[in-house]
Amino acid sequence: MKFSLSVATVAMAISVANAQVGMWGQCGGNGYNGPTNCVSGATCQKLNDWYYQCLPGQAPQPTTTQAPPEPTTSVVIPPTTTSTGTTPTTTVAPPAGAPSAGPNGLHAKMVAKGRYYFGTAVDQNTLSQSVISNIVKEEFGMLTPENSMKWESTQPSRGQWRLDGGDYLVNYAQQNGKHVRGHTLLWHSQLPGWVSQINDAATLTQVLENHVTTLVTRWKGKIQHWDVANEVFEDNGQYRNSVFYRLLGERSIEIAFRAAAKADPNCKLYLNDYNLDYTSSKLTNFIALVNRLKAAGVPIHGVGTQSHLMVGNGAIPTFKNPLQMLHDTGLDVAITELDIRMKMPSDNSKVQQQSRDFQTVVKACLDLPRCVGITVWGVSDKDSWVPSTFQGEGDALLWNNNYQKKEAYTAVANALA
Ligand code: G3I
Repeated sequence: MKFSLSVATVAMAISVANAQVGMWGQCGGNGYNGPTNCVSGATCQKLNDWYYQCLPGQAPQPTTTQAPPEPTTSVVIPPTTTSTGTTPTTTVAPPAGAPSAGPNGLHAKMVAKGRYYFGTAVDQNTLSQSVISNIVKEEFGMLTPENSMKWESTQPSRGQWRLDGGDYLVNYAQQNGKHVRGHTLLWHSQLPGWVSQINDAATLTQVLENHVTTLVTRWKGKIQHWDVANEVFEDNGQYRNSVFYRLLGERSIEIAFRAAAKADPNCKLYLNDYNLDYTSSKLTNFIALVNRLKAAGVPIHGVGTQSHLMVGNGAIPTFKNPLQMLHDTGLDVAITELDIRMKMPSDNSKVQQQSRDFQTVVKACLDLPRCVGITVWGVSDKDSWVPSTFQGEGDALLWNNNYQKKEAYTAVANALA
C-alpha cells in the first residue's frame, strides 16, 4: 500500500513537471502552483508579479541576432516601443521638450493660464483620419482613449490581452508630444462577462490587481493621469451594484489605486464620475469617499468630474459651486469628459446658449487653482457618443459634422484668452 502510494505521488509529480501550458496560458506568478513549461513555440514570460503567460516565440536572447517569430494573432502582449517622452513631476507644468500642440490652440492657451492641459477623447478610429489628426495636433495637449483601454477592449478573456488600440494612442501621443489620461481601470461598464461572473473575493482581488498592474505597467511613464476608478456611485449616491462592490466593497477601490501606484509611482491617479455638476447626495458621498481614501493613505491625487451637460441646464450657471467642493478635497481637479448637448435641430438661440455654457464651465475651472485641465469628449459632433445614446440630441462638441470650428469653440478660446 505504502509502495503504491509512493508510486502514485511520484507519478503525479512527474506528470505535473511534464505538463505543458498551452499558448496564452498562465505559467507562473505569485500563488500559482500549476505547470510552468510552455508548449513548443511559446515562452513563459513575466507580465507582472502575479502573472506569467505563455507567449508566442522565444524569450529575447541577447547573444543571437535572429528575430523571434512574429505572433500570428493580436491577442498578445507585444513589446512596447521605445519611449521618447518624459514623465512630468508635477501636475501643472508640461514635460520639458514636449511640443504639445500648436501655439494658437486651446492647449497652448490653457498652458498660458498656468494649467496642465486642454484635451480630447480619441482612438485609432478617429486619430487615423487626417482631418481629425490635424485638429488634434494643433489644439489638444492631452489625449484620453475613448474606448481602447477599457476592460472589454484590453482583456476580453482572462489572461488574453489586446493592447494594440491603447498602443496606437500612446504611440501617437509619444510621436506628437501629447500627454495621455488612461481611461479606465475599475468600471462596471464595458466589463467582460468573465469578470462579472467571478463569485469569490480572492479571485476577484487577484484579477483586479493583475488587470491594473498589467495596464499601468504597459504604458508606465507614457500616461500622466489614470482614471483608476470610474462611476462607482449610482445617481442616488449609493454604491453601484457591480461585481467589484458586491464582492470587495469599498476595498475594491483601494486595491485598484494601490496596484496602480505600485506599477507607476509617478502617475497621477484619479477617481472619476458623472453628475457631479450640482449638489446632491451623490456629490456628497463622492467627496466623503475621497476623504476616506486620503485618510487611509490610499494614493489618490485627483478627482475627475465628467461634465456631460445639456444646453441651458439650470445647474450650469452655478457649475463653480460643486467644482469648488471637489477642489476643497485638496486634490487636483479635472473636467474629464466635457460636452454640452442640445435637443436637435439646432437654432441660433441654442447655439448662443451653448457658447455661454461652455464659457461658464471653462471659467469655473480657471477660477480654481488646482483645476488642472479640461478634456472635451471627442473632437467633432460627427464622432460624438451623444446622438446614439440620447435620441434626438446632439451638437455637443466644439467642431461640427464638417470639422469646422463652431461658435462654442470661439467661446472657449475667448474664455481662455
Ligand atoms: O467595438 C464595437 C464594434 O465591434 C461593434 O461593431 C459596434 C456596434 O455597435 O460596437 C462597438 O462598440 C461600441 C464602442 O463604443 C466602441 O466604439 C459600443 O457599441 C458603444 O456602446 C461604445 O460606446 C462608448 C460608451 O462609452 C460605452 O459605455 C462610447 O464610444 C464612449 O464615448 C463612452 O464613453 C463613456 C466614458 O467611457 C465614461 N463616461 C461616460 C462616457 C459616455 O458614455
